[in-house]
Amino acid sequence: MATIKVLENKRIVLGVTGGIAVYKSATICSRLVQAGAVVDVVMTEAAQEFVTPLTFQALTHRPVHTDMFEITARQNIVHISLADAANLLLIAPATANTIAKLANGLADNLLTAVALATPAPTPILLAPAMETDMWLHPATQANMEKLRGWGVNVVGPAEGRLASGAMGPGRMAEPDEVVSMARIILARNRDLAGQRVVVTAGGTREAIDPVRYVSNHSSGKMGYAIAEVARDRGAQVILITTVNRPEPFGVEIVQVESAQQMLEAVLPATREADILVMAAAVADFRPKTMAEQKIKKKGDTQGLTLEMVRNPDILAEVANQKLAGYGPHLTVGFAAETEDLIKNAKSKLKRKKLDLIAANNVAAADAGFAVDTNRVTLLAGDGSIEELPLMSKIEVAEKIFDAVLRLEQANG
Ligand code: PMT
Repeated sequence: MATIKVLENKRIVLGVTGGIAVYKSATICSRLVQAGAVVDVVMTEAAQEFVTPLTFQALTHRPVHTDMFEITARQNIVHISLADAANLLLIAPATANTIAKLANGLADNLLTAVALATPAPTPILLAPAMETDMWLHPATQANMEKLRGWGVNVVGPAEGRLASGAMGPGRMAEPDEVVSMARIILARNRDLAGQRVVVTAGGTREAIDPVRYVSNHSSGKMGYAIAEVARDRGAQVILITTVNRPEPFGVEIVQVESAQQMLEAVLPATREADILVMAAAVADFRPKTMAEQKIKKKGDTQGLTLEMVRNPDILAEVANQKLAGYGPHLTVGFAAETEDLIKNAKSKLKRKKLDLIAANNVAAADAGFAVDTNRVTLLAGDGSIEELPLMSKIEVAEKIFDAVLRLEQANG
């Protein structure tokens, strides 16, 4: 999917310490650079036993720092200038030894000096990596508790196969997870910080019998993009989904299948939420009954007639919740249309008591279901209309939250 802008132009000091997981740090470094971050790598002596600074220099196109007493071009003291310029200090892998130094305020190499010199508001993220016994040792656990208490962020370690071949906790978190965590941390205090957002994604599946269902072409891409953008802009996000896409890191996932199950998940989730975005393609009808056994063919030609009944309208139920005094203060819906786009969207905006609706022409091949792009017109309850060109679903999600914030501001 399209670029996520949280990392763009962010200064990240990537501290690399000596463990076999160093090979994953090169991937982390590359992902950060590709996302637009300016990455200054600081390597300990032990890290250089595993990988040479050249690897990181090639990835960042910047000098790699290894020497505490390095003279910089501007004659700055290197550990202070790196610490002052950083938006984030990320140490991956963080060995037991470096963790112990950090927990005790030691500054006997460039990396630990940078960490000690990092001003309080600048976040620090550690991705520990070590053998299970080292990780579980009371000394390491006490050090971690101390660091967490100081507000240091931690990602992993995961359980799995370790360098020794043993299985257990201690494996460094995967690069995608580390980069996602970096994005979450950098997104904090952004414009959705402190807001609780519930998003729905995917097409509901309405069971005919234990093996068959009625559904639609929704892939969940739009809903997942909305959840990721909300998270990146600092919100706490619950994603209620019918599809099995890779779970966006830091987002609470609730898996459902049918419209009824989605309703049962949405109502409690939105009780305490600020914003609901219904991107799911909810089936309006479901088979009246679900056969207990697989329906058998009768004869060679006889067809099958299904009696369909109406599903609950989830947005209408949320609107009732709002009337009763709880639930989100802002509700966003989508209108998937193949004709009379604006007219139908306007009527849904009103009928479903929405604050905002994204009118979505699903007849075009490059917009709507299952593609990475979308073309929507945003219609707000205050009468404003914003026609957007074709853009990535991530960009559409950004525009939706821009509009949401504008409405929130207008509502005071
Ligand atoms: O998932 P993708 O492949 O990325 O595709 C994205 C999408 C096309 C599914 C998405 O952009 C979209 O348009 N979602 C809404 C689809 C839909 O159900 O539209 P609708 O016009 O039938 O419903 C209007 C609104 O009411 C929607 O917000 C829907 O979630 C909601 N609804 C519908 C029926 C129902 N019983 N309860 C509801 O709350």
